[in-house]
Amino acid sequence: MSAQAEALTVRDARAADLDAVAELERISFPIPWKREFFASEIGVPHRFNRVVRSRDGSLAGYVFCAFAGGEIHVNKIAVDPACRRQGIAHLLMREVLELSGRIAAEEIYLEVRPSNVPARTFYLSIGFSEVGRRPGYYADGEDALVMSLFLARRAASP
Ligand SMILES: CC(C)(COP(=O)(O)OP(=O)(O)OC[C@H]1O[C@@H](n2cnc3c(N)ncnc32)[C@H](O)[C@@H]1OP(=O)(O)O)[C@@H](O)C(=O)NCCC(=O)NCCS
Repeated sequence: MSAQAEALTVRDARAADLDAVAELERISFPIPWKREFFASEIGVPHRFNRVVRSRDGSLAGYVFCAFAGGEIHVNKIAVDPACRRQGIAHLLMREVLELSGRIAAEEIYLEVRPSNVPARTFYLSIGFSEVGRRPGYYADGEDALVMSLFLARRAASP
């Protein structure tokens, strides 16, 4: 972790984060989730929603995930443009990996636009592979690539 990353606070997302999350979402995605979508994910069972705050309290990034049946679905991950390439997405995905250990998940997966080269490069760099394609997945008609990280199989039940 960089010195910058060590000055960060990582914690569960809460209602007080929603304005900043919605604003970072708006500047990060061509078709952003609405604030209400994020609000509806907070405090719900089987969710893992984390934010990174900088030392000055500003929002540096977030990840919103849902998990069930040994799978973790990364719904959203974004980092403030001013904070990119400093390892913050890596820090957030490490949190997701720690969750995967706690719940003995077998797979972490997500959808990504083929045109989103930074994100695809990031996921490949942490071990994800491209496992499928969902035609016309996004509202503007772009396909989604499905990327997965397969984890060690859960121990068989006795
Ligand atoms: C994708 C995103 C989350 C990456 O966040 P980040 O904090 O900048 O990523 P990190 O600093 O942890 O990068 C880790 C590695 O990913 C790769 N990577 C990240 N951004 C990259 C870019 N723009 N170009 C090429 N490789 C990139 C690199 O291998 C990088 O390691 P390096 O900096 O040592 O070369 C960020 O660019 C973002 O918020 N994008 C807009 C939202 C988005 O597209 N989210 C994903 C939707 S599926």
